[in-house]
Amino acid sequence: MGVVASAPAKIILFGEHFVVYGEPAIVLAIDKRAYAEAEQRNDKRLCLRSVNLNLAGYFENGTFKIEQGDAKEAKSKFEPIKLAVAKVLEKHGENVGLNIQINSTVPVAAGLGSSAAVVAAVTAAVGALLNVKMSKEDVFRTTYESEKIVHGTPSGIDPAISTFGGTLLFQMDTGFKPLEVKADIPLVIGDTGVERSTRAQVEKVRSIKEKYPQIVEPVMLAAREIVLRAIDALKENDLETLGELMNINHALLYGVGVSDESLEWLVNAARKAGALGAKLTGAGGGGCMIALTKNEELERVFEAIQRVGGKPFMARKTDEGVKIERT
Ligand code: MEV
Repeated sequence: MGVVASAPAKIILFGEHFVVYGEPAIVLAIDKRAYAEAEQRNDKRLCLRSVNLNLAGYFENGTFKIEQGDAKEAKSKFEPIKLAVAKVLEKHGENVGLNIQINSTVPVAAGLGSSAAVVAAVTAAVGALLNVKMSKEDVFRTTYESEKIVHGTPSGIDPAISTFGGTLLFQMDTGFKPLEVKADIPLVIGDTGVERSTRAQVEKVRSIKEKYPQIVEPVMLAAREIVLRAIDALKENDLETLGELMNINHALLYGVGVSDESLEWLVNAARKAGALGAKLTGAGGGGCMIALTKNEELERVFEAIQRVGGKPFMARKTDEGVKIERT
């Protein structure tokens, strides 16, 4: 039996996309986790298996061999993991072979940070297995470096929340600050089931911003103001204001082109069913939306999302970032 580590998925409450350009964002870790188990091999192979994606293959002498599933998909999913493992091995000072098994409860390519959660869990598991001292800051850095391969120009928000957990105010130049949120934030998450690439969505915003700088810059300022207001509303547990701010934030994201029909159906259904506010979360273009909902309306909003074809689930915030589950 090997070492097992886990890391949480996340939802972005406010500020996705604009965070890539230095604006603040509010993100919280949720109780859906990715698990990674690592054990040492006698040879130098890096064998990877994703139980939930039905993918398996190994890297050896710089080449990748597929063992289960689609080779292209496996390579793109495993590449950032390989990079993170290489960084831990560098610290270890010796190249050793490893079996790594991933088991994730986080929907993939849905805006919930599944890739960062997986890489953070793998990094921590391999570090603990090889007795390489990895602080949380090290896990964050390693995960961030490998995320750059998948996402192009990521802000670092996904690796930060998967590593540290809790509720964070995140900004690229100043880093992150834990936000104290005592109250529960009752949310229904709706998965459109439409998978999309974060990189493509980030590129879409970049090209709109380049084409219409004078229009998009005020949009970014508005997004900043939303985050500042939301910090106070979170402190005061003012759910009505938070809901309104979510609706405005969604409109801004729609404006820069990252909503789509599947998201609009779910967002509108949630609002009609009584949600205080609803918006897409993460990269958009499909993926997930979130609906802030009074406890007594949760069931109704859940059912409304289901009725229009979404896959709803309830999520709770968690303070637990990356952690070793078993040594
Ligand atoms: C993805 O979870 C969030 C984006 O803002 C991209 C990023 O911050 O790296 C869309």
